[in-house]
Amino acid sequence: MPATETLIDGAVARSTPPPPETVRRRHVLDLDDFSREEIGEVLDTAESMKEVLSREIKQVPALRGKNIVNMFFEESTRTRISFELAARALSANVVNFTAKGSSVEKGESLADTVRTLQALGADMIVMRHSHSGAPYMVAQHFRGSVLNAGDGRHAHPTQALLDLYTIREKLGRVEGTKVVIVGDVVHSRVARSNLWGLTRMGAKVTLCAPPTLLGPQQFWKTTWPQVNISHNLDESLEGADVVMALRLQKERQQAGLLPSLREYSRFFALTAERLEHLDNRLLVMHPGPMNEGVEIDPDVATSTQSLIEEQVTNGVAVRMALLYRLAG
Ligand code: NCD
Repeated sequence: MPATETLIDGAVARSTPPPPETVRRRHVLDLDDFSREEIGEVLDTAESMKEVLSREIKQVPALRGKNIVNMFFEESTRTRISFELAARALSANVVNFTAKGSSVEKGESLADTVRTLQALGADMIVMRHSHSGAPYMVAQHFRGSVLNAGDGRHAHPTQALLDLYTIREKLGRVEGTKVVIVGDVVHSRVARSNLWGLTRMGAKVTLCAPPTLLGPQQFWKTTWPQVNISHNLDESLEGADVVMALRLQKERQQAGLLPSLREYSRFFALTAERLEHLDNRLLVMHPGPMNEGVEIDPDVATSTQSLIEEQVTNGVAVRMALLYRLAG
């Protein structure tokens, strides 16, 4: 694990409660500094944005004349495209930066790149990076706003907000709902940001994973004392309202964490057979991209219980809400 990851994972453990009143924020780096009120306001704004997206002309002039740079140093389909569509729906100018073909290839540092973008007139930077903490560093060098679109295994706040939005839209509330997050928890930035968001909104969360994919229990327990930990999916799903399956992050795994994929699927995959045995009507979520047949079966992913498509759709409205609020 790179040193930066240890540092930032350590930093996550600070659970300073955010101020009760909504302060106008400049950046969205994680949900640890969002109060319950602010999350509620973002979700309400997203609802208005969803109305805009249902119109024939899906565009409002709110961010006309603002320059937004999408900087993705790691692969992405839905997050990158939904940020771009969100910015365009608000009439902003959008530029997509890719490391390939830029001066980063000539050795320019991230800090220099950011100062260059600033000199070119960027107002907001949307950033995904494989190093935990990279967007925090960028925020220190940039006078505009930074939105974290996923950093290492640390945080993915916009995904967590769209997940909260989707749960609230479907169930009418987040408070009191029972949510099981299952899979490759140790490598998951989606799990970490969702833990901040779900616990702050009053959901009851269970993390379910084999011990090797959970990492040190103490980390979860000290950071989010309310969270339940389980190694048994069938037990965890009893009485649950929502199950969120995580992608097995093969690119971040060290060898030896799993005996075999088949064995993993037998105990931890969302299969039709496993869900059939439940009395409760469970809603199924997945941030995508999915390893079909590993953590989720294709028929479950496309079943009427699945919210996976709604999650993608809601991502645009939630990102519009954040861009709009940051632009003030
Ligand atoms: C996630 C990500 O990149 O963190 N995907 C996403 O943004 N929708 C989850 C993953 O990669 O497994």
